[in-house]
Amino acid sequence: MLVSVIGTGYLGATHAACLAACGHDVVGVDSDPGRIEPLEHGRAPFHEPHLDELLDRGVRAGHLRFSTDVHDAAGAEVHFLCVGTPQRTGSRAADISAVHAAAAALAPLLTRPCLVVGKSTVPVGTARELATRLRRDAPAGEDVHVAWNPEFLREGHAVEDSLRPDRLVFGVEADEDDQVLRDVYVEMINGGVPVVRTDLATAELAKVSANVMLAARISLVNLLAEVCEAAAADIGDLTTVLGLDERIGPHFLSPGVGYGGGCLPKDTRAFVARAEELGVAGPAALLRDVDAINMRQRARTIDWTVALLDGRVQGRRIAVLGAAFKADSDDVRDSPALDVAATLQARGADVVVHDPKAAANAARAKPGLRIADGVEAACQGAEVVLVLTDWEEFRGIDPVSLLDVVARPQVLDGRLTLDPHKWRAAGWDFHALGRGAR
Ligand SMILES: NC(=O)c1ccc[n+]([C@@H]2O[C@H](COP(=O)([O-])OP(=O)(O)OC[C@H]3O[C@@H](n4cnc5c(N)ncnc54)[C@H](O)[C@@H]3O)[C@@H](O)[C@H]2O)c1
Repeated sequence: MLVSVIGTGYLGATHAACLAACGHDVVGVDSDPGRIEPLEHGRAPFHEPHLDELLDRGVRAGHLRFSTDVHDAAGAEVHFLCVGTPQRTGSRAADISAVHAAAAALAPLLTRPCLVVGKSTVPVGTARELATRLRRDAPAGEDVHVAWNPEFLREGHAVEDSLRPDRLVFGVEADEDDQVLRDVYVEMINGGVPVVRTDLATAELAKVSANVMLAARISLVNLLAEVCEAAAADIGDLTTVLGLDERIGPHFLSPGVGYGGGCLPKDTRAFVARAEELGVAGPAALLRDVDAINMRQRARTIDWTVALLDGRVQGRRIAVLGAAFKADSDDVRDSPALDVAATLQARGADVVVHDPKAAANAARAKPGLRIADGVEAACQGAEVVLVLTDWEEFRGIDPVSLLDVVARPQVLDGRLTLDPHKWRAAGWDFHALGRGAR
């Protein structure tokens, strides 16, 4: 099939590469030439494991093209909308102007029957509005159909999640639209991936609902962690106990500096905003608390750091290990690590950050921040070391050799990444969110 993908960021570039790997002819369109230029050469414009191989293969085989011109999407049988839906400035709600702009640019090109499929995460009700506008503005009129096919990929595992998702959700209005999506994903469906067919509204809600459940789970674990600290209990052992309960399960039970990135924080807030519009304000208040507990982790990390520096941060050297919102990604959108680093710097601390992949994005997002290209360089002369992203390479740091580099052997583990026994045995004053100084 000839397929277009509008918006080639973390979601769209991966989706385009995976569709090409499944045998479709794909054109990816993005209004940002900075995104398109590397993609045209078969390279991802961001760090995502295994994506470069897939892009390179698709581009070389001639199944995958990229363009800044939406006219190159004309003629596709299926158009996937993968543009960004960030938090609206000054509001909790999602900004869906890019979705409408992409659809408005596409509409005049839709001269034949086609399916426009939303993959972006949007407030429930967006798909219906989009369908009305497209049918009004496109030359093909009623022959333009709209479906919603939310994406559940995790950055850092995006390729694997896109090629072998846990489930596919097809929000459709007609059997023929369901069939088109089954044709697009035939390889995955034949491989055993389950499909859940829903109406448009349920499909729109599917992604944001998954994210609010995950956000709530993390904030609940962080609440337990804070109680553990206060009660001199151990959150690591506690989550092991909880994870062995088959009704709870072991995943997404890590306490720490909280969730971040381009999805969970803004999706939780957008869900609250939309629930309030729909008259469900009372129960949605639960998610305001989820958000508040999440932001509290950043404040607690900062307060703890200040306490480790005897209440004064002005001019004090602090090493921050991690800038990405999670390991295996270079994404610094709403990153707790970067937020903590920037806040400490704003209070006068001499902060140096190291991240294996997110240094360039961190420097762009916080131009005044000092960035080091290695763990030792970041820790040089530090009076406290903060570990704020769960990179595997931080787990492997040798606490003995790092002793020679720092000014004071104090570490605060914000991700339960380090082995407390090893670090204490090496002579470090070891602290961890949820574990206190135990
Ligand atoms: N990143 C993830 O892990 C992930 C997972 C699932 C769902 N989502 C959802 O997918 C959507 C995209 O997220 P992302 O992380 O890829 O964002 P992103 O910011 O990385 O990418 C969005 C892209 O859309 C482009 N764009 C904006 N307006 C455009 C237009 N009118 N025409 C063409 N291109 C346009 C931007 O230039 C950008 O490259 C969001 O709704 C997000 O919530 C993201």
